[in-house]
Amino acid sequence: MSTAPVTELELPAFDHTDPSMRGERFHAEMARLRGSGSWLAQGPYGYLTLDRESGEFFLRTRSAIFPGMKIAEIFGVSEGALYEQMRRNILHVNGRDHSRLRSLVNPALSQRAVERYRPAMRASLEGLLEEAVARSGAARAEGEEEEEGVVRCELVEAFAKPYPSQVIATVMGAPLEDAPRLHHWSNWIQRQFDATSMASELEGIERAVGEFYEYAQELVRARRESPADDLISKLIEAEEAGEKLSDVECINLVFNVLVGGVDTSQSQLAHAVRLLGEHPEQWRLLVEDPGLAERAVEEALRYEPITPFTARILTEDVVYRDVSFPEGTIVMVCAFTGNRDLEAEAAGEGGPERFDITADRGRARPLTFGAGVHYCLGANLARTELQEGLEFMARRMPDLELDGEPVFESVSGIYGLAELPIKFSL
Ligand code: HEM
Repeated sequence: MSTAPVTELELPAFDHTDPSMRGERFHAEMARLRGSGSWLAQGPYGYLTLDRESGEFFLRTRSAIFPGMKIAEIFGVSEGALYEQMRRNILHVNGRDHSRLRSLVNPALSQRAVERYRPAMRASLEGLLEEAVARSGAARAEGEEEEEGVVRCELVEAFAKPYPSQVIATVMGAPLEDAPRLHHWSNWIQRQFDATSMASELEGIERAVGEFYEYAQELVRARRESPADDLISKLIEAEEAGEKLSDVECINLVFNVLVGGVDTSQSQLAHAVRLLGEHPEQWRLLVEDPGLAERAVEEALRYEPITPFTARILTEDVVYRDVSFPEGTIVMVCAFTGNRDLEAEAAGEGGPERFDITADRGRARPLTFGAGVHYCLGANLARTELQEGLEFMARRMPDLELDGEPVFESVSGIYGLAELPIKFSL
C-alpha cells in the first residue's frame, strides 16, 4: 500500500494558540474537528491527532520525544538556570536514565504511598473552608449585603489554588507556610511549556527557576541533616544507598514534582467544580452519595482535560496509518477529542458529550495524564487530592452553586480557570 506525505493531506485546521479558544468556543471547535471525520488536523506548528488510538501511538512511540528543548532553541535559551533545568527536566530525559529516575521516585508516589496523605488533604480543606467563612463574615461586618449564613467566595482563590500547593509542601517535606511561595514558583516555571509565555515572559520564568533552585537546595540540605517521612528524605536515602541518584538529579526531581503538581491539580479541581455546578443534578447525586467522588473525578478528567494537548517531536521519519511524517514534525496529541473516543457501551445512552458521574466508561482510561513511559508521575496523588476535594465539598458545602460566570484561561498550556464564583450556606 502506498503512503502519503502528511503535507499532501487535506486536513481540518485548528489553532490551539488562538487566545479566544476557551470555554464554549473551544468545545464547539472540538466538536467541529470530531465531526470532520478526520483523525488528524493541521495546527500552527504541526499536526494534531484526534482519536485515542493515534494519540496513544504518538505518546508511546520511541521515535518521538517531548519537544521542550526545541522550544528552548526557538526562544534562544542556551545557558543559565532555566536552560539547565529544561535539560534536566524528567520529561526531557529518556532511555535508561529515565527508567532509573522513575524507579527511584515512583514508590513515593504509588497509590499506597499517597493514601497516607488523605488526612493532611482533609486538614488543608478544613482550614481553607474556615478561612473562606471568616472572610465572608468579615465582608458582612463591613456592611456588604450578604444574607446571614450564606458564604460567597471565589473558588480558585479560596480552594483550588492553595490546596495543591499545601499538599505538595506536605509531600515534599516543606513547611506548610511556604505553600504560597511554592505556588508562585510553580506557576511561573510551568510557563516554559507555553510558547506564548516563553515569547513574552522569559525573564520572570528565569527568575522563578533561579529562586526555586536556591530554595530546593536549602531544603535538601536540611533534610540531609534531619531526615523525615517525606519525598525529599526518600530521594536522599536512594541517593546515599548506591549513588543511583546524584545531588543535582535529586534537586531536579523535587523541581519536577513541584512544577508538575500545582497548576495541574488546581486547574482540574476548578473545572471539576465548575462542571458539577453547571450540572446541578450531578452535584446532587454526589451530595447524596459522596462515595461517587472517585467516579466524578474520572469523569471530570475525561470531559475537561486540563492538558488538552500534549506535544511530541519526531526524532526520525515515521509512517502511521499510511501517512508519512518526516523527522522534526511536531505532533500534538489531543486528549479532549481522544477522551471522547469511546466504545458504544462505554459512551452509554447520552454519548461521550454527556457529563455523567455515574457512567461506567469501562476500560477507557483518559489521555489526560498522557501515556507511555512519561505517563504522569503524580497521577495517583492528583486523583486522590481531587477525590478528597470533591468529597469534602459534597459533605461540607452540600448546597454549593455557581454564583456568576467562570473566567476561563487559554487552552494553550494548562487549561485552567482564573475565577469561579460560588456560594453555599453554612
Ligand atoms: C490533574 C492533575 C494532573 C494532570 C492532568 C497531569 C498531566 C500530566 C501529563 C499529560 C503528563 C505527560 C506529559 C508528556 O508526556 O508530555 C504529566 C507528566 C508528569 N507529571 Fe503530571 N499531571 C497532573 C498532576 C501531577 C502531580 C500532582 C504531579 C506531582 C506529584 C505531577 C508530576 C508529573 C511529572 C513529574 C511528570 C513527568 C513524568 C515523566 O517525564 O516521566 N503531575 N502529567
